[in-house]
Amino acid sequence: MNSDIEKILVSEEEIAKANERLGKELTEEYAGKNPLFVCILRGAAMFMMDLIKHVDIPMEYDFMDVSSYGGENTTTTGDVRIIKDLDTSLRGRDVVIVEDIIDTGYTLDRLVKLFETREANSIKLVSFLDKPSRRIKHVKVDYIGVQIPDAFVVGYGMDYNEHYRNLPYVGVLKPDVYSTK
Ligand code: PRP
Ligand code: MN
Ligand code: MG
Repeated sequence: MNSDIEKILVSEEEIAKANERLGKELTEEYAGKNPLFVCILRGAAMFMMDLIKHVDIPMEYDFMDVSSYGGENTTTTGDVRIIKDLDTSLRGRDVVIVEDIIDTGYTLDRLVKLFETREANSIKLVSFLDKPSRRIKHVKVDYIGVQIPDAFVVGYGMDYNEHYRNLPYVGVLKPDVYSTK
């Protein structure tokens, strides 16, 4: 295990099980609809690529890059910036927004409002992790992998200061890693 990690919160086995379950649910829900999966970079990249292996129907995907946290901050600013927009039109599409974690809810709240103006036929949200204790903006998350307590987590796509995204599990970062810098 990486020496900056205090403990593993979601193991590789649990991740695989959650993806299989979510993939089955999405396969049933979206059969015949050619859904557009929208991966919110960069955190959701690893989850999305695992998840869609279990989505056994015709589908498309695209990427969007937004950011609410800057640099070394571990708390949100509420300011969500669009860094890279979609290349695909949402008009009439059944959209599945794919996120790694819902924390305050600002990112998804802003995205859902934006996508509604683009005339999507439907918009649903899937998030690998849900941290309900920190929610500020209410957003309805339709599919959730795992609910977690209020801890600063990294790995499986999630970063601290851009590091740890490559860890194959979700871990809790040792407090001294971010408190001494
Ligand atoms: C993180 C995470 C979610 C968002 C959740 O992304 O990946 O997208 O914050 O927080 P919220 O519910 O409080 O808005 P971040 O902005 O750090 O960008 P990244 O995915 O590139 O790390
Ligand atoms: Mn993100
Ligand atoms: Mg981040």
